[in-house]
Amino acid sequence: MTQNQLRLGVNIDHVATVRNARGGAYPDPVRAAKLAKEAGADGITAHLREDRRHITDADIDGLMEALSVPLNFEMAATEEMQKIALRHKPHAVCIVPEKREERTTEGGLEVAREENRLAHYIAPLRAAGCRVSIFIAADRKQIEAAHRIGAEVIELHTGAYCDFHAEGKVAERDRELEALREMSAYAHSLGLEVHAGHGLTYETVQPVAAFPEVKELNIGHFLIGEAIFRGLTPAVQEMRRLMDEARG
Ligand code: PXP
Repeated sequence: MTQNQLRLGVNIDHVATVRNARGGAYPDPVRAAKLAKEAGADGITAHLREDRRHITDADIDGLMEALSVPLNFEMAATEEMQKIALRHKPHAVCIVPEKREERTTEGGLEVAREENRLAHYIAPLRAAGCRVSIFIAADRKQIEAAHRIGAEVIELHTGAYCDFHAEGKVAERDRELEALREMSAYAHSLGLEVHAGHGLTYETVQPVAAFPEVKELNIGHFLIGEAIFRGLTPAVQEMRRLMDEARG
């Protein structure tokens, strides 16, 4: 991988969503992860939710065993998840806010309000060798707090930018994009590695992929949906192509 290349993390949660709609064993998220890797993913992301609505503990076991690319393990900052992460020691742990009633991760983590607790929470994960990433809004206060607690990585929430795009609210979309641009540069200037993700599609990926400070995009729901129409391999390949094109 060249210095300029942007990493693509493919989130396979929604392969498990389809499987769980019926129970049973297929479609298998581990098989999807292997295919995504072959199609150009640099890593795989999976979110083990408290309610196990998609990814299960057995999926994490399977991914840890089978993957030849890094696993980015998304989780809420709970004691249960910390234990699981410490048992597996994945390449990266991404701490996300989690509410039982939400359909997806709606906002970024409130790091500033929980600084002390989170600093203690991530310390053993870092000591175990996991890269700790914090999923936050493009907000200076949250970035500074993530830096102070000792996170190495922040992932900026692109959901609002993508929602405004989908709703045709161009001015709001562009304002969000500008905030993402500014905050990527700011976080990078503090020495944080910058990732971004949530809601990205072929239409929205390129402006974010063009930010030079962004090192990784994590993309799931759209790709798994697109896989229904064109297959997972071409779906991932097209995202990879768009990212590389945006990066020049
Ligand atoms: N990054 C984080 C931290 C997430 O929580 C999610 C959703 O699980 C994603 C990226 C991927 O979002 P999407 O599935 O909308 O592409």
